[in-house]
Amino acid sequence: MTILVTGATGTVGRQIVAQLVERGAPVRALTRNPAAARFPASVEVACGDLAAPQTLAPALEGVTALHLITFGGDDHAPLPTGPDIVALAAKAGVRRVSVLSSWDETSVEEALRAGDLGWTQLLCVEFMANAYDWAASIREEGVVRVFGNHPGAVVHEADIAAVAVAALVDDGHAGQAYMLTGPEALTPAERVRLLGDAVEREIRFEELSEEEYRASMRAAGEGDDMIEFAVQLGADPPGASSVVLPTVEKVTGRPGRTFAQWAAENAAAFRS
Ligand SMILES: NC(=O)c1ccc[n+]([C@@H]2O[C@H](COP(=O)([O-])OP(=O)(O)OC[C@H]3O[C@@H](n4cnc5c(N)ncnc54)[C@H](OP(=O)(O)O)[C@@H]3O)[C@@H](O)[C@H]2O)c1
Repeated sequence: MTILVTGATGTVGRQIVAQLVERGAPVRALTRNPAAARFPASVEVACGDLAAPQTLAPALEGVTALHLITFGGDDHAPLPTGPDIVALAAKAGVRRVSVLSSWDETSVEEALRAGDLGWTQLLCVEFMANAYDWAASIREEGVVRVFGNHPGAVVHEADIAAVAVAALVDDGHAGQAYMLTGPEALTPAERVRLLGDAVEREIRFEELSEEEYRASMRAAGEGDDMIEFAVQLGADPPGASSVVLPTVEKVTGRPGRTFAQWAAENAAAFRS
């Protein structure tokens, strides 16, 4: 029994690999660039590209459980190759699949819904790790500038991973769509204060006007679609984004990790 993790070098995938290794499970990690990837010694590394499914057959050999991402490429474009990936997985003998979904469903979820593999969908509103977007301005200027200060029930990537691991290893999760949140809803200003506690430094919090925010995103080279999406999210986030759910604790048996914990674990990235 081998578990194949796609997105294994990413924010969530790295955690899934680490937690599977901790449980003593045989792990194979997929990457497009094995030479650049760093994994624990017991992890088998496989080269493959989800956007080019013909490259995946060797990586899927002997695999019984599969963690999937739904995007391909560094611009996070939705994968159009879901039917091929799911057909190859079924042919290889995969029996359990966990899928980390994006905001919109893709061909991956569509193909899984049409097929008969047991699969578990992981949905999240906002990762705690998005705070990395603030790291440069905190290190360089001691400030965070955001548009909108609405509470969000941000979730720790290790908790997303813990739910994925349960879905990959344990029975009883097939057919579930798990919406994952952290244990509290925090505004960006509250998260910035907790980061300040972690780095033992006062961090200023500045709210941008919509125009200032649009200008800052344009200056950062973001395209029109991304700017509209981010402005909409900052001005009027979906109601669900501030609702704390008990899913992580129900599935993993332990409370969701707090943002204070995330900040302490990642403090080095915010120190100048
Ligand atoms: N950030 C949030 O708040 C949030 C909220 C809800 C949902 N999400 C969703 O979560 C997902 C992001 O997850 P993440 O942060 O863990 O991703 P990430 O850190 O950006 O990871 C990128 C990973 O994707 C792999 N990858 C990219 N294109 C690939 C391809 N064509 N074939 C194979 N592997 C490929 C990369 O592998 P290599 O480079 O090693 O090949 C890398 O491991 C997205 O679907 C996003 O929509 C995010």
